[in-house]
Amino acid sequence: MQFGHFDDQNKEYVITTPHTPLPWINYLGSRDFFSLISNTAGGYCFYRDAKLRRITRYRYNDCPRDSVGRYYYIKDGSTVWNPGWKPVKTELDRYRCRHGLGYTVLESEKNGLAASLECFVPVADNCEVHRLTLTNRTDAVKEAELFSYAEFCLWNAVDDANNFQRNFSTGEVEVDGSTIYHKTEYRERRTHFAFYTVNRPVCGFDTDRDSFCGADRDLDAPQTVLAGSSRDSIAHGWAPVGSHHLHLALQPGESTSCIFVLGYVENPKDDKWEAPGVLKKDRARALMEKYRTDAQVDAALQELHMYWETLLSRFSVHSEDEKLDRMVNIWNQYQCMVTFNLSRSASYFESGTGRGMGFRDSCQDLLGIVHLVPERSRQRILDIAATQFEDGSSYHQYQPLTKKGNADIGSGFNDDPLWLIAGVGAYLRETGDFSILQEQAAFDNDETKAQPLLEHLRRSFQYSCSHKGPHGLPLIGRADWNDCLNLNCFSDEPGESFQTCSNLESGKAESVFIGGMFVKYGAEYADICAHCGLTEEAAQVRAQVETMRAAVLDAGWDGAWFVRAYDAFSKPVGSHVCDEGQIFIEPQGMCVMAGIGVQEGLAQKALQSVQERLDTKYGIVLLQPAYTSYRLNLGEISSYPPGYKENAGIFCHNNPWISCAEAVVGHGDRAFTVYRRTCPAYVEEISEIHRTEPYVYSQMVAGKDAPSFGEAKNSWLTGTAAWTFADVSQYLLGMQPELDGLRVNPCIPHTWKAFTVERLFRGTRYHIAVRNPDGVQKGVVRMEVDGKPQTDSLISFVPGKADCYVQVTMGTPE
Ligand code: BGC
Ligand code: NOJ
Repeated sequence: MQFGHFDDQNKEYVITTPHTPLPWINYLGSRDFFSLISNTAGGYCFYRDAKLRRITRYRYNDCPRDSVGRYYYIKDGSTVWNPGWKPVKTELDRYRCRHGLGYTVLESEKNGLAASLECFVPVADNCEVHRLTLTNRTDAVKEAELFSYAEFCLWNAVDDANNFQRNFSTGEVEVDGSTIYHKTEYRERRTHFAFYTVNRPVCGFDTDRDSFCGADRDLDAPQTVLAGSSRDSIAHGWAPVGSHHLHLALQPGESTSCIFVLGYVENPKDDKWEAPGVLKKDRARALMEKYRTDAQVDAALQELHMYWETLLSRFSVHSEDEKLDRMVNIWNQYQCMVTFNLSRSASYFESGTGRGMGFRDSCQDLLGIVHLVPERSRQRILDIAATQFEDGSSYHQYQPLTKKGNADIGSGFNDDPLWLIAGVGAYLRETGDFSILQEQAAFDNDETKAQPLLEHLRRSFQYSCSHKGPHGLPLIGRADWNDCLNLNCFSDEPGESFQTCSNLESGKAESVFIGGMFVKYGAEYADICAHCGLTEEAAQVRAQVETMRAAVLDAGWDGAWFVRAYDAFSKPVGSHVCDEGQIFIEPQGMCVMAGIGVQEGLAQKALQSVQERLDTKYGIVLLQPAYTSYRLNLGEISSYPPGYKENAGIFCHNNPWISCAEAVVGHGDRAFTVYRRTCPAYVEEISEIHRTEPYVYSQMVAGKDAPSFGEAKNSWLTGTAAWTFADVSQYLLGMQPELDGLRVNPCIPHTWKAFTVERLFRGTRYHIAVRNPDGVQKGVVRMEVDGKPQTDSLISFVPGKADCYVQVTMGTPE
């Protein structure tokens, strides 16, 4: 069953009912100001940091479901309704939600009055713009009352949720004409405030939630709206909100628009301020002036469209498969930008108050966007590197506002250091900008300890070299990519859980997965060294890589697949000798991507085992058999019921690893099947089972052991976005940036006859046409670059070229 459809022309997903299985959301904002908005207008916004600069409030746990947002109430006679259906839930005569790139439009109609609510965050300003256009479709004059509503959060979302005794007395607002200022904290810090304004005179306002709603009422029936007039309340503490009241009279056929702006302002710290508590409004007023007319809003929307058109024109494919094209050209890249901007901080499943930017997460997010925003990738890399410790380990997370490592979570995830090499490697291959390696980046955010980025990579690599266990494999530490595999966790205390166990006495547990990473990213680091003229270091690194390869082949091979790990007692995890959890997906993907066992035929065998043991119709599960009981020596992974999350769920993030691995060994048919199974556009028809948005990836789909097999959870913020884009663009379509140029080496289903790719690479626009006359899955037999035949599939980079035309013929080399 579908709840909407794709509109590829307009790059939108059109939702045709408010009754989606879950709130189906979109993100607004491209740089500093971000918003979440659902198909019923729920959600919230923040400046940079969802924890420390939360502008509007949200209620978590989806209970009551998606119940706070930016709401507009229309009172037409005795009927009260909202353009997004919620919160009043009056049945609408027409409803449509169009989620586009950086904007959302809610279109609806009731009793001959049509509403269109366009919401977006302008490319370069810190505000949400909401343009509500109302049209009278009847033959009679319509008079209606319009009320806006937004609830302010008191900046620090954790404090806002915890410290009521204080916060019920701190809220302050100021009303100036049609503008409501939210100035809590201004008394103390004098720098930041928010405002909510409309471009016309109001007949009233409210700023206090209880006055707006009525003490024992809620947003579905606020007393002011039902009564048709505001109370002009001024909040003193309690819950500050912003609500405008406008009276509208529309002739038959007439349309009118009201433009609301919800903005954030920060005055420089050293600004002289007039008197205590007196707002300096000049910046706010300047911002309001930019969005007062329809022409201004149209121009801002146009700028937003151009922003996305320009970004997405950097990579596009035209194939015989409409769903593939729509995911690659629009939604996958869009999601990559969202995950890059937000890491795993704020979604409808992540509160925004817990995690900030993840070290490993943000490093992997780079893989999906280095081609889109190279300059911003550069800055991100330096920010991430500055949270590394001098020994090469790192804070696991940092706050986006302060860019400081999060001491509560600390470090100890032993895959983290190697992901830095992965992210920097992707950046270097994309841009060729080796100057970044000389940029100074602090250690532990301490500028006095700054070193060139190259030194950070060196320490990343060295950390893994100096943290090996009894089998010569990397020590896992608290966990590796799989946060829930907590192998150094054991205790004799009955009833102890992984969260409280403290017996890390041996710390001996090892990860074959990190071994695979070490081989893959160690080799990339060696290439970087060689490119920088560090020949000796490159040789040493390669030697270390070979030692690790041997260790993986020796202790990490189980007979038909790669072992997952060794626990603190050096017992294997993910081996046929285990009673449950005999085979895990992660080392099969990572080790084969690293090329381990390919020549020996072991890689192929491992992938065969994946297909036999882990495949399902909805994707590949993380492990089998699922753990049926909790095991302290494994940790959080066994805390999930079978089939969910890391305990044998279909963890979408590592499905593309298998697709990449299949491409490494030349299996295009299988690589594409793996790609397609978890790809949201291909499961749109079963949205009632899948439940999350059909235009973006979710973190997880319930596995075959779960009662809700096929149900997706945790949509939007997942490394799946970046990894899938790396998979489809580099491994399947075969556009592979290398340090010296762009290689074209596709691996596709044998049924594909041809496809074209347009790709901007280091300033040159490559027009690449691939033909597959013999129906092979992999192999390039002929290539012409600007009409000149060449023997190699690498297009050497020639600076200064605007366009480059490439013809590629696939086939079986003689
Ligand atoms: C996992 C969750 C886990 C969390 C904290 C995430 O990466 O997916 O299952 O609860 O980390 O350990
Ligand atoms: C989600 C986390 O954000 C990511 O860092 C981790 O690798 C996966 N879960 C797997 O546990």
